[in-house]
Amino acid sequence: MASTPQKTTALVDWQDGQPVSRRFGDVYFSRGSGLEETRQVFLAGNGLPERWATLAPDGRFTVGETGFGTGLSFAATWALWDQVAPPGASLRYVSVERDPLPPADIARTLGIWPELARYREALLAQWTEVPPGWHRLAFAGGRVLLTLLVGDVRAVLPRLDGRVDAWFLDGFAPAKNPEMWEPGVFAVVAGHSTRGATCATYTVAGEVRRGLEAAGFAVEKTPGFGRKREMLRGVLRAPARSGWRAPWFARPGPPADRKVVVIGAGLAGTATAASLAARGWRVTLLDRHESIAAEASGNPQGALYARLSPHATALSELAVSGLEYTARSLPLVGLERGAAFDPCGVVQLEHDESERVRQRRLAGQGWPAGFLSRLDRSEASDRAGVALPSGGLLFPRAGWVRPPALCRALAAHPSIEIVLGRAALGLRRSGDRWEVHDSAGAVASAPVIVIAASGASAAFGETAHLPLRLIRGQLTLVPEVPASRALRTVLCGEGYIAPAIDGVHSLGATHKFRDTSTRVTAAEHAENLARLATLAPALYRALGADLLDPARLTGRAALRCSSSDYLPIIGPIADVSRFATAYARLAHDATLEIDTPSPWVGGLYVNTAHGSRGLVTAPLSGELLAACLDDEPAPLARSVIDALHPSRFILRRLIRAR
Ligand SMILES: Cc1cc2nc3c(=O)[nH]c(=O)nc-3n(C[C@H](O)[C@H](O)[C@H](O)COP(=O)(O)OP(=O)(O)OC[C@H]3O[C@@H](n4cnc5c(N)ncnc54)[C@H](O)[C@@H]3O)c2cc1C
Ligand SMILES: C[S@@+](CC[C@H](N)C(=O)[O-])C[C@H]1O[C@@H](n2cnc3c(N)ncnc32)[C@H](O)[C@@H]1O
Repeated sequence: MASTPQKTTALVDWQDGQPVSRRFGDVYFSRGSGLEETRQVFLAGNGLPERWATLAPDGRFTVGETGFGTGLSFAATWALWDQVAPPGASLRYVSVERDPLPPADIARTLGIWPELARYREALLAQWTEVPPGWHRLAFAGGRVLLTLLVGDVRAVLPRLDGRVDAWFLDGFAPAKNPEMWEPGVFAVVAGHSTRGATCATYTVAGEVRRGLEAAGFAVEKTPGFGRKREMLRGVLRAPARSGWRAPWFARPGPPADRKVVVIGAGLAGTATAASLAARGWRVTLLDRHESIAAEASGNPQGALYARLSPHATALSELAVSGLEYTARSLPLVGLERGAAFDPCGVVQLEHDESERVRQRRLAGQGWPAGFLSRLDRSEASDRAGVALPSGGLLFPRAGWVRPPALCRALAAHPSIEIVLGRAALGLRRSGDRWEVHDSAGAVASAPVIVIAASGASAAFGETAHLPLRLIRGQLTLVPEVPASRALRTVLCGEGYIAPAIDGVHSLGATHKFRDTSTRVTAAEHAENLARLATLAPALYRALGADLLDPARLTGRAALRCSSSDYLPIIGPIADVSRFATAYARLAHDATLEIDTPSPWVGGLYVNTAHGSRGLVTAPLSGELLAACLDDEPAPLARSVIDALHPSRFILRRLIRAR
């Protein structure tokens, strides 16, 4: 048992085989037939069977839902989609939920309907005790995407970056749960709607009807389901004002031809290629080496774990979403558990006083125990299988990954052409396309280029302003011994050690700021060993590490790439000098709501600066770029996307010039 009390209170009571909310004393769906009700109220109420039957072969449709609940609406929607939508079309489903149900309740509820068995299994294969934040779940090879916004609707929905075609308004009864039906929520719903978007709900409560009308929906009453005489359906009369959005962080808009060259085949480049290929893009993935994952992403083993802040920072939000996304993706992309990854858990030790304070604050925030919990020293030692000097935080779904295996799996898609041994030296515009040149001439061309070349991402004229720096790091490989086989989790503190693969433990890693060599040195092996001596002295002794000669150890050194604010850089590139002119007035007043569109360098994007946590941030970065390029709901909140945007640096420079 974890020593900090965790959220274990049941959210539902089961009455006559149906879930009832403890908090609201209300049912999740009609007692008669939840599935029939969902089909009539939300699916037919939004005209989905007819709208989907006439979608373009590669069409896209976004559903928005307030109240994910048991996943019944999601499963019923996906089932209808499979029946009527063209096989090449894509469903995007965005849902808000403050109290995600645990897997057992989802399983029990969806088990009521045998016809949903396929969808229930698919959802449960990825459903966990979901922590607060933004979560992206991909199904059917990415054709169906669920973006789950975990938090209070009033706080999370305004932060959505995306627009919805049809809304399912499904809070508990307005009289029991007025927060879900506030006028402000309807305004946000309308503000995140596409032209002609529809909505439907089972309630005809006066405040709901009036709220929807005030937000811009033309609402009508139609016959309700079962004993409910009436329900409401609505159509947005005119595009609603969604409030001012900083144009420098807006999306440039999708290109006509969905073809892209991705420069760099590490974690960032392969993740970008995979997310775009899954959406039907033709991708050329280019790297200067003769194999993919030959630089930072070439380490034999990396720890999948995040260092969270107790404050809601962009980095921390990104880390929660990214950690969960990578952990869910590893089995889906076909990696072999035990050989290429292991969700064996990560114990983050309280190695000093400030760490103790940070961890205790985090542990007191009520994260679900399936995501994070605090262990005292003996609990942590039991879980890790070796005696530890302190307690710490356990991330049970985290673990280790072989980054090159992940890169290879991400790049293995029939729409991805891999071009190796060609170093991109320059970009040339030719009509509405970019040509990528190496020393021998044009290597590839496409309307869109994504530069995912780590530190070399700023080596092009258009990106030279990006403040990148390189941080050398070295891993030490230590042969396993019988006693070290007891290690069952990854241990992290100042450094990290993972359970052995192929007879060796990876011990990492050094940080050197003014050294760009990738030579392996005995001095840095000695540093890694010294870190292990503090992190896990018993393991250090068991490994005979005090007797190991650093000069004879093997390892690997590579360069991490970091930005000046330590956040990744993901998004479109603006023209620096035209940007300064367009937004010069910000130098006098940084609060101005200027509407001038950003002067983009058309078709140029970047994905870099994943620092020392690329396993957490890079896979999701592909989804973020793809959402931007395909104009679909993003997997992260707007404020986080803005914090990662390449234009943040030129914007800050302008404002600082004041
Ligand atoms: C020692 C060490 C230990 C680490 N441990 C961990 C860990 O435990 N957990 C974790 O999450 N992260 C860890 N990291 C960080 C992680 O490895 C990086 O965040 C991640 O690999 C970055 O991926 P990337 O694709 O951005 O960069 P890279 O993997 O460096 O890929 C960039 C690619 O671009 C190519 N390229 C560059 N220029 C050009 C050009 N002009 N033309 C064509 N191709 C080009 C390069 O050849 C390279 O393949 C560690 C890093 C190091 C160095
Ligand atoms: C009627 S249930 C939704 C049923 C769901 N559509 C289904 O298919 O099972 C309402 C849901 O809204 C959630 N909810 C209630 N108030 C909320 C709020 N303020 N913000 C976000 N979610 C909320 C509840 O936790 C509950 O899961």
